[in-house]
Amino acid sequence: MYQQLINKKWWKEKVVYQLYPRSFKDTNGDGIGDLKGVIEKLDYIQSLGVDVVWMNPIFESPNDDMGYDISDYKAIMKEFGSMEDFDEMLKGLHERDIKLIMDLVVNHTSDEHPWFKESRKSRDNPYRDYYHWWDAEKGEPPYRWSIFDEQSNAWKYDACTNSYYFHIFSEKQPDLNWENPKVREEVYAIMKFWLDKGIDGFRLDVIACISKDTNFPALPKEMEASEWFPYYAQGPNLHDYLQEMHREVFSKYDCMNVGEMSFVTTESALLFVDEERNELQSFYHFDHTGVGVSKENFMYSDEGNWDLVEWKKIFDNWDKVFVEKGWGTIYLGNHDMSRMVSRFGNDSEAFRTLSAKMLHTFILSMRATPYIYNGDEIGMVNTNHTNIEYYQDVYTINYYNGLKQKGEDCEAFLQSHAKISRDNARTPMQWDSSLQAGFTNSNPWLAVHSNYTSLNVAAQENDPDSVLHYFRKMVQLRKNNETLIYGSFELVDQSNAQLFAYTRQLNNEQFLVVLNFSATPAILQTDIQVDSSPIIISNYATPCQNKVFEPYAAVIYKIQ
Ligand code: NOJ
Repeated sequence: MYQQLINKKWWKEKVVYQLYPRSFKDTNGDGIGDLKGVIEKLDYIQSLGVDVVWMNPIFESPNDDMGYDISDYKAIMKEFGSMEDFDEMLKGLHERDIKLIMDLVVNHTSDEHPWFKESRKSRDNPYRDYYHWWDAEKGEPPYRWSIFDEQSNAWKYDACTNSYYFHIFSEKQPDLNWENPKVREEVYAIMKFWLDKGIDGFRLDVIACISKDTNFPALPKEMEASEWFPYYAQGPNLHDYLQEMHREVFSKYDCMNVGEMSFVTTESALLFVDEERNELQSFYHFDHTGVGVSKENFMYSDEGNWDLVEWKKIFDNWDKVFVEKGWGTIYLGNHDMSRMVSRFGNDSEAFRTLSAKMLHTFILSMRATPYIYNGDEIGMVNTNHTNIEYYQDVYTINYYNGLKQKGEDCEAFLQSHAKISRDNARTPMQWDSSLQAGFTNSNPWLAVHSNYTSLNVAAQENDPDSVLHYFRKMVQLRKNNETLIYGSFELVDQSNAQLFAYTRQLNNEQFLVVLNFSATPAILQTDIQVDSSPIIISNYATPCQNKVFEPYAAVIYKIQ
């Protein structure tokens, strides 16, 4: 803890708001959110008290994977607006003292990127080595699993040069060859272009995948599909490339970065974020996101997969990693997960508001940089659609098509997948009770949730007990209390299967946070004098009596 205070950094103290521009606010009536829409809502964003906006990709893209397939890294996606709109938005954010981090997708490009168009033309094209190719004379390439491919095959045959190219994601997202120094130079130039424009940093998409064993050895036969992924994440040169990126880019700017880090472990974590190694500032892992997801196949849901004691251990173990070095992140929702309240809370009418507040208390009182996904500040919930017509996500659609081609049970898939699909979190922002929730005046690209007439920003602005107002209070509480940012973290009543309780302590100040993750009252086993301690914030007027906590109660006590 002492060490962390010496290592105080502005980016450790920020609250990050993740903004999905496609679904935020449409101003030109095409049903797709745009940058002018973000500009219109700048005062709202400021009113939340957040300090940083992480914006999902806004670069030119054919949108096979909603912007995660970039065809021009230096242009704004036409549907989102122009570079002038971008400049105005950035200025507006900065005027409100809010930083902007952009989503940089450089493990792969779109197949419509000029580099790939060149690369596929001929085997001796100067851009050939920008991607991974396997000449067909060598026979079929060793199988690699693809997460978005209909056949789950990461190699796509391209007749033009009688070769296969490699794509971990969809066939429209060919992987860049980071072994080629020219590719790395291009990436650093793109990063500098945006930093020179004044942005404040990057979220680095699937950065753990950039280095691969380019011999592509055959995979052991007995492995499960989900185990294949590490064969091309956390590759042999990953740390060299991140150090080079730091040297070439990050060391030259006072900026923020966060990597999306698949397959990182508590043992390997500091290799990425120990300040002395000059790689990244922070990353996010996925260890706690398995709740509600089937262990056998993560395209399916599993209601029974929830063990709070295990879940607490995950956070505790991760907190310990960063006691002296490095720094963590904390999130419960993003554009790749179903809605936070539906997944980790309870989205029934009785508990939606309470559990949303409880989850915000959690995110904003942990020792790590908090990330809040847009819509969660009002407690938006899953749509759970079971009809394929509703879906826009390549992940769901291609998996469904693959099952259909194999003659497998598509309906059973949709029934199960509905609860965890990514489109749950991508439905338009619910601004008010007017048609299409005030998001657009035409047909939205993805259907608005049917509950928008009652669950929306305008209604919550008028309700002092709303999730929105609670969220704002909680953000201020964190920002005004160094203890909630840097203080030590210690679990209380660790084996309690309903309550997540912990202390945060710095110097002489101590808080006790108690969160009931269940729909029934729960008793806290502790010597701490809970009932006589002042309450700093709670989602109930009386959250607890005799150490019995109400369903989904959230309380922060100041321990005297
Ligand atoms: C991770 C992103 O968060 C996800 O939305 C995207 O589909 C994949 N990376 C591929 O870029």
